[in-house]
Amino acid sequence: MCKKSIINSCEIETINLKTKPFLFIIFGGSGDLSQKKLLPSLYNLCKYDMLHEDSKIISIGRKKIGNQEFSDIIKKSLFTDLEKTENIKSFLKRNSYISTGSEKIGIDELNSSICSLKGVNSHQIIFYLATPPSAASNILKFIDNLDLCEKSIEKKIIIEKPFGVDRDSAKVLNKQLHQIFSENEIYRIDHYLGKETVQNILFFRFGNSIFEPLWNRSYIEKIEITVAEDIGIEKRANFYDKSGILKDIIQNHMLQLIALVTMEPPTSFDANSVRDEKVKIFKSITNMNEEYMKNHLFLGQYSSGKIEGRKINGYLEEIGVDENSKTGTFFSGKFHIDNWRWADVPIYVRAGKRLEKKLTEISITFKTPPLKLFGNDCLDLKANKLVFSIQPDEKISLTINKKYPGMENYPHPVEMNFNYSKIEKTSLSAYERLIIDCIKSDLTLFARQDGIEEMWRVLDPIVDFFDKNPQRLEKYNAGTWGVGEWHDE
Ligand SMILES: NC(=O)c1ccc[n+]([C@@H]2O[C@H](COP(=O)([O-])OP(=O)(O)OC[C@H]3O[C@@H](n4cnc5c(N)ncnc54)[C@H](OP(=O)(O)O)[C@@H]3O)[C@@H](O)[C@H]2O)c1
Repeated sequence: MCKKSIINSCEIETINLKTKPFLFIIFGGSGDLSQKKLLPSLYNLCKYDMLHEDSKIISIGRKKIGNQEFSDIIKKSLFTDLEKTENIKSFLKRNSYISTGSEKIGIDELNSSICSLKGVNSHQIIFYLATPPSAASNILKFIDNLDLCEKSIEKKIIIEKPFGVDRDSAKVLNKQLHQIFSENEIYRIDHYLGKETVQNILFFRFGNSIFEPLWNRSYIEKIEITVAEDIGIEKRANFYDKSGILKDIIQNHMLQLIALVTMEPPTSFDANSVRDEKVKIFKSITNMNEEYMKNHLFLGQYSSGKIEGRKINGYLEEIGVDENSKTGTFFSGKFHIDNWRWADVPIYVRAGKRLEKKLTEISITFKTPPLKLFGNDCLDLKANKLVFSIQPDEKISLTINKKYPGMENYPHPVEMNFNYSKIEKTSLSAYERLIIDCIKSDLTLFARQDGIEEMWRVLDPIVDFFDKNPQRLEKYNAGTWGVGEWHDE
């Protein structure tokens, strides 16, 4: 609802986001994701007073960790050793840790924690699988064995990407999930979709009338998407060496970004309408044969190098990585979408670790004007370019040509910028936003079963190709831009 403010603009009323009470159960509760993102996000939501005071968080893991030790882990993840402030004290009180050491113990303890909740019937239970894909099946069996006290308790599950390890395993996992949860209780998370700038792609496209008429093969020359990190695999060799760049980034983040940029306008902004359009894009991504993959897809693995003057070890020297590992840490390639709007428009993607800098952006290059009216023959008129920057800067910029001052008729490119950091209103982080969406039962920013299976349909042949052709894995020095050709000017 809008109300008029004194400056005659429309101020959006803050929605009362306070949740109903819930029990948040994190599997993999002592892992990297939980410590870096989940616990800090839940703490912030608690601090913003968005979580109901009766809500509780139980972290679960196979490691034996006492409650005091777990409190210390939480404090470390919040970058504090203080317990003094009311916020931290009250957050710690909501948290506990259960070890599944011997599975029976974990189940009994969890059952009694659920049943002892005050007013348990009004709670919803959210299971969060912050674990590698290989762990999902056993955890689901564990959940299935839980007596959810009153069967009427509302239950949901959030499951991290990558969802399965290929199309077949994703189908098996979906089947297993559906034995316990209905599709609208399943939240397949890809935190990229929780980022403001990623959501803004749809607002930009469908909230303005000036770009959408040009958003097609007649006016767009190419689309380029970069998801680059300067960090390595940190302490996640166990997970990363099995997944690599293809399953960690391309199957999920990259395909989601492609879908947001290229999908048709949905009939409404509800979860299924948006997800219907995305699935159509995944289905339209062109199948690639071996010859095509040889010429247009590249896989790389970082060797030692330098980033910002620091010496960086190669991937094979990372702790926990097999010395003969053929896992790719960089991918670049050219995709196509076989539909009326996008036929023949190349979509170049690249993603990797230990690259020159952290950068996530989508660049749309428009066709150059058909007539060369300005400048002389040796001067190139730059094409208009629209760039959605997602990290580290959150901005949108449009490159346009203007006259260079002076007697000569020279065109000169300039950038028009919109920068998110200029907006004073602070927004929720991606995980905060998605946790709240799940509590509110909003599935729009989560993947649906058919979408996941279609994304694997695109990726499986690529993984297969590089598995069968390990000699195609090329080395690149840390601090460079990986391997293959990049078509940016
Ligand atoms: N880290 C990130 O920033 C990040 C970002 C986006 C998505 N993700 C996704 O989140 C998931 C977890 O990543 P992570 O980085 O947190 O990994 P992690 O640090 O290795 O932690 C995963 C946790 O899962 C538990 N676990 C591992 N194998 C298990 C098994 N077979 N059965 C039951 N529990 C098992 C482990 O705890 P116990 O040994 O105590 O059981 C471990 O602490 C991955 O799917 C990843 O793609 C991570």
